[in-house]
Amino acid sequence: MNGKFLGLLLLGALSAGTLAAKDYLVSTRHTSLLIKADEGKQARFQYYGTKIAENEIDGIYNADLAYWAETYPCFGISSYGEKAFAVAHSDGNMSVDLVVEGVRQYSDEEADITEITLKDKVYPLVVKQYYKAYKGTDVISTWVEITNNAKKALTLYKFASASLPVKRADNWLTHFHGTWGAENMMEEEKLTNGQKVIANKEGIRNTQTDNPSFMLTLDGCPQEENGRVIGASLAWSGNYLMKIIADNSRINVIAGINEEVSHYILEPKETFVTPELAMTYSSEGKGGVSRAFHRWARAYKLNQGNKERDILLNSWEGVYFNVNQEGMDQMMKDMSAMGGELFVMDDGWFGDKYPRNDDKTSLGDWTVCKEKLPEGIGGLLASAKKHNIKFGIWIEPEMVNTKSELFEKHPDWVLSQDNRPLTTGRGGSQVVLDLTNPEVQDFVFGVVDKLMTEYPEIAYIKWDANAALMNYGSHYLPSQKQSHIYIEYHRGMNKVLERIRAKYPNLVIQACASGGGRVNYGFLPYFNEFWTSDDTDALQRIYMQWGVSNFYPSIAMASHVSANRNHQTGRVLPLKYRFDVAMSARLGMEIQPKDMTDADKAFAGRAIAAYKKIRPVVQFGDLYRLVSPYDKKGIASLMYATPEKDKAVLFVYKTEHFLNQLMPDVVLSGLDENKTYRITDLTPENEQKPSALNGKVISGKILKEAGLSVASALRAEYSSLALLFEVVD
Ligand code: GLA
Repeated sequence: MNGKFLGLLLLGALSAGTLAAKDYLVSTRHTSLLIKADEGKQARFQYYGTKIAENEIDGIYNADLAYWAETYPCFGISSYGEKAFAVAHSDGNMSVDLVVEGVRQYSDEEADITEITLKDKVYPLVVKQYYKAYKGTDVISTWVEITNNAKKALTLYKFASASLPVKRADNWLTHFHGTWGAENMMEEEKLTNGQKVIANKEGIRNTQTDNPSFMLTLDGCPQEENGRVIGASLAWSGNYLMKIIADNSRINVIAGINEEVSHYILEPKETFVTPELAMTYSSEGKGGVSRAFHRWARAYKLNQGNKERDILLNSWEGVYFNVNQEGMDQMMKDMSAMGGELFVMDDGWFGDKYPRNDDKTSLGDWTVCKEKLPEGIGGLLASAKKHNIKFGIWIEPEMVNTKSELFEKHPDWVLSQDNRPLTTGRGGSQVVLDLTNPEVQDFVFGVVDKLMTEYPEIAYIKWDANAALMNYGSHYLPSQKQSHIYIEYHRGMNKVLERIRAKYPNLVIQACASGGGRVNYGFLPYFNEFWTSDDTDALQRIYMQWGVSNFYPSIAMASHVSANRNHQTGRVLPLKYRFDVAMSARLGMEIQPKDMTDADKAFAGRAIAAYKKIRPVVQFGDLYRLVSPYDKKGIASLMYATPEKDKAVLFVYKTEHFLNQLMPDVVLSGLDENKTYRITDLTPENEQKPSALNGKVISGKILKEAGLSVASALRAEYSSLALLFEVVD
């Protein structure tokens, strides 16, 4: 071999080697994620943070910032660290050794996608790992697709969506804990070494306990507009598990479907797709993370996220199960007179053989109760037309009562175990339909399809789900695949929702699950909004809505003005306070209007008119949380501003009441310091006596840097402010 040829060969090998050894940048508007994917080696997660250019990649290594963390750590080869993936092959071997086979980077309509193909060194097992940078946002999502190319089935024991390394520092964790009536309460804590687990195993209402979302600071105590923060949310509506593992050298987050009692048999040629873990990085504190998620949600993860939501009255707290034509007609008339745009008839309207008079019967029998509504839905739609208001209806199509015609006809359609009695939920008789069964999927789709075919004027559906997944057993799934129920239930659910959306893209649907039990990005893409909580007490809502707002946008957050005395807490609050809280999200009412005084109705009419004026700012604007109720400073405050910062809406609520109490000034961080603003009081109790702040003109510089004193305006107990800021020409 001559020297020249040897030289060429070496050069060829070298350049092939250099080509294969590559760093891949995944970038959004302000962030970058760096992956090293050398062919034949493990893929490494190197960096996630502020945006860098290709020519700055070396700088990450030079500054010794690279993590060198496996992108998808697998069980069976190394023993170090928490694993994302574990299987048993058909021969009993339980090890996986994934190395890079190739990387593709391409774009589609919504995102720039990086696809890393990982292959086991020995077994015909392929894992494609995705990083999806959503266009026009700062959100990157990641997930894997696992394909079994062997001739025999294998069993998946661990199948996380992602393994996310985070720099160890003075890290603080923000997460959202809940229970019925107190969902999404914010928790913040300094992350100590050890493991923190955020999880749900309830099967259906997966956000009633904890939300599958968290933020981790990279430099100390969480702040709203400062500091470096990573935020992530798992887009899955079933059982989930997020493990945050910290030691002195690093943090690793493993997030995905909760695998407990859910090992999965992967057949030959079958591909298992995990849910997306959506994440963002912000150098503008938690506020930056929230705004990034809100923008992403409106653009990609909500049905019609860019369309204004109607102002509605829901019948539940007004009449509960006492639905009848006359009562519904009166509520529609009253709501329309106050300026409302939509009326939603809640539970209690259905059941032919068994009328739905309480929560013990009739779920499954989605035909009108003739005793209560002799003119049927047609009669209600006629009322709606007469009163110039849209009409919506409540259903709970995944559920059935044992006292129902459906259960009598199809007892095998419910999740149950042949050799054990049924465990029942709400009302002592509620059970869950087996959505793994395609016949049941057809039925559930049919509930919506039948209503909408017969009554295309229905503008809105409230989709409820008031049970956990009980009686773990499917008559449809084979005995060796009973461990798939928690997963197949949601796959079945998604198939139904896909069909509904394909046929009814413009139908507004609210996701409700005993209140805020389904506030997650796995479910929301099929929905327009969610019911935040069954607790409609405005004071407690301030805390819950604050928590929800960390990851979910106001346009989707249903917030209703309720009765005085609140039915859940018994608290008595001024109507203005109740409106000022509800107006900070998607405004609605959940009240019997005929019990309101004329003065209250007049106030409600003015507040609704004011909300119509600010609706685009609240529903599409950028959120700035200003004073946290969790800081116990006596007030809570938040604002929305248009991206141009020419209009903003400020909400301030008194949360404690003492004589001569210390009250912080409110610093309006969402304004432009180079502009000047005029203030309008949006909801004065007495039109003739607006707040002393009404009409005041103040520079953005003062408002953004020194702030606004609200102490004089908030003297009374439960006083509040809703103020509009408009640029003065
Ligand atoms: C659940 C919902 C409520 C209401 C009732 C009706 O509790 O969260 O808003 O719809 O069911 O039964």
